[in-house]
Amino acid sequence: MSGFYDTVALDDENSALVIIDQTALPGELRLLRLTDLDAFAEAIGSLKVRGAPAIGVAAAMGLYLAVKTAGAETREALLARLTEAKTVLAASRPTAVNLFWALDRMERAVTARPNAPVAKMVETLRSEALRIRDEDIQACRAIGEHGLTLLRDGEGLLTHCNAGRLAAVRYGTALAPVYLGSERGYRFKVYADETRPLLQGARLTAFELRAAGVDTTLICDNMASYVMQKGLIQAVLAGSDRIAANGDVCNKIGTSGIAVLAKHYGIPFYICAPVSTVDPRSATGKDMPIEERGGHEVTEMWFAKRMAPADVNVLNPAFDVTPNALVTAIVTERGVARPPYAKSLGALTPVIYDGSNAEGSGQEGRIEVKWEHEKDNRKGWAEMSCVRGNEGSNIERTQPLGDAAQLLQELWKDLHA
Ligand code: MRU
Repeated sequence: MSGFYDTVALDDENSALVIIDQTALPGELRLLRLTDLDAFAEAIGSLKVRGAPAIGVAAAMGLYLAVKTAGAETREALLARLTEAKTVLAASRPTAVNLFWALDRMERAVTARPNAPVAKMVETLRSEALRIRDEDIQACRAIGEHGLTLLRDGEGLLTHCNAGRLAAVRYGTALAPVYLGSERGYRFKVYADETRPLLQGARLTAFELRAAGVDTTLICDNMASYVMQKGLIQAVLAGSDRIAANGDVCNKIGTSGIAVLAKHYGIPFYICAPVSTVDPRSATGKDMPIEERGGHEVTEMWFAKRMAPADVNVLNPAFDVTPNALVTAIVTERGVARPPYAKSLGALTPVIYDGSNAEGSGQEGRIEVKWEHEKDNRKGWAEMSCVRGNEGSNIERTQPLGDAAQLLQELWKDLHA
């Protein structure tokens, strides 16, 4: 993978969002330097930057740049620009929850500091965007580590769409175990679905795996059953754009069909995604918005001439939902969740501490706590952001806190004693 740029990067000096233009691949590795809000949103909407984690990072950096370059002089003006930019970016694509997760997180970072001067607010947005990027890199690497424990040297792996490094900042999600394994001498044989209609598998997955020297075979989507029946596939690895609290998984159109096939052939079907893709507001797959895109992507795009009658109706949903019963495991940076997912995902999903009872003045940063419940063996994880001089007010409660709250309070006191 040497010679690659990060998929999404910030050129702060020139106030530019730098992305690899994924619509130009595999023919050309072209970097785009985007400098205005409409261009950021257009790049996401047209899939120049795509893949759930990469969209989240691009939106966070875009929001920061949109606010920074507006040059607001008052807190009110800055917050007005923030709201405007957030609205524009949030309208760019509907399904990948990482987009909304990143935008909300950026907003929380500044609204948490009611007394901060404007320059400090801009700086806060910058550091939060970079933190989201850094966490993405770390999360993908950790997903790779956990995912690798499920795989064996020499296995044939089927993947769909692109959940590789081009879909994140580095490593990717579903392809992270492949990259880490390859670094350690595993010789996987990866089968990449071409992924109609936008060909992310052919254009992006095949491209980045080949660049990394991974044994890669491209197949058309309708060949998945064939390769499974032939015994060429030992596991399916796919990413996700949104995971419901019950473990239903939304991912690129066609993913659910592969899951059905995998079940039929007795092949494990693994989803790899950061916990930021888990959407506690979606109780099941029915609550997730499915993007519908233009029919021209099916009839004309990529063809030298139109390949369908001019007046034919076209249905072009960009995603589908795989029911949790077909998902063998969900691999996150915090570990591998297995059914029943309502319980296992709940234990891996961050609890954000309502710091209302916290004491002491905070140091900027994040606190992370792991806990184990002795009675019923529940394991948990919690995190808290703290902001200097404004401890506790930037937090929202997203889950019952239970033991985590106590632990966090003790930790907070220790840290600020
Ligand atoms: O429409 P896209 O190309 O953004 O869809 C991407 C996918 O469906 C990926 O599988 C998903 O975002 C996971 S990315 C690590």
